[in-house]
Amino acid sequence: MQIFLDTADFSAIEERYDSGLIAGVTTNPTLVANQGINYLELIKNIAETFPEMESISAEVNGNTAWEFIEDAAKFRDISEAVTIKLPMTKEGLKACKYFSDVGVKTNVTLCFSVAQAALAGIAGATYISPFVGRLNDNSFSGVELVRGIADLYCNQGIQTKVLAASLRDVHHVSRCFLYGAKVCTLPLKVFDKMYDHVLTREGLDIFDKDFKRMV
Ligand code: E4P
Repeated sequence: MQIFLDTADFSAIEERYDSGLIAGVTTNPTLVANQGINYLELIKNIAETFPEMESISAEVNGNTAWEFIEDAAKFRDISEAVTIKLPMTKEGLKACKYFSDVGVKTNVTLCFSVAQAALAGIAGATYISPFVGRLNDNSFSGVELVRGIADLYCNQGIQTKVLAASLRDVHHVSRCFLYGAKVCTLPLKVFDKMYDHVLTREGLDIFDKDFKRMV
């Protein structure tokens, strides 16, 4: 069971990494564009600053398998943790198969069905990213998709890890882990909220007062 951060905000990663709980980072074009930074520099920075990180997803641009492979060249030498993020398309899966054969980690993104996840598993993806929140936005259950994919991979002995993405709240995270996700990639706000419970806060107030009463 692992937690990744779903962000392109380098300082935010730095602030949370010393928790010892973060095993990786996922990025996407939207997150990077919103930060107004250079994608390659960001990935280099993360890999150099956090060498123990297991996976750093960098999304590639293009339409054909060859274009994805060419675009990935700029990321590949940075570190073994760099995980090439590919779209859940025919061409994306061709590139996925190529990377799997040469031992490069991959994350197949924008997965919305068990059938798609089956293809990614056969293509040898390291991670499959079902988008829980976006599926919910379209009146389907994202966490049920995670459950279906996790069951399928378990029954078929597929090594691809379910990386639950597009998570909007702590409840999603709990459900995804319970339903078999190996990794949840969390927006910063969701990660920060995971620590919190009203009864923990109340209990601490009581204990603080009682520490002061102790003789
Ligand atoms: C992660 O890999 C995805 O890019 C991300 O979780 C998408 O989240 P969103 O649906 O909130 O944009």
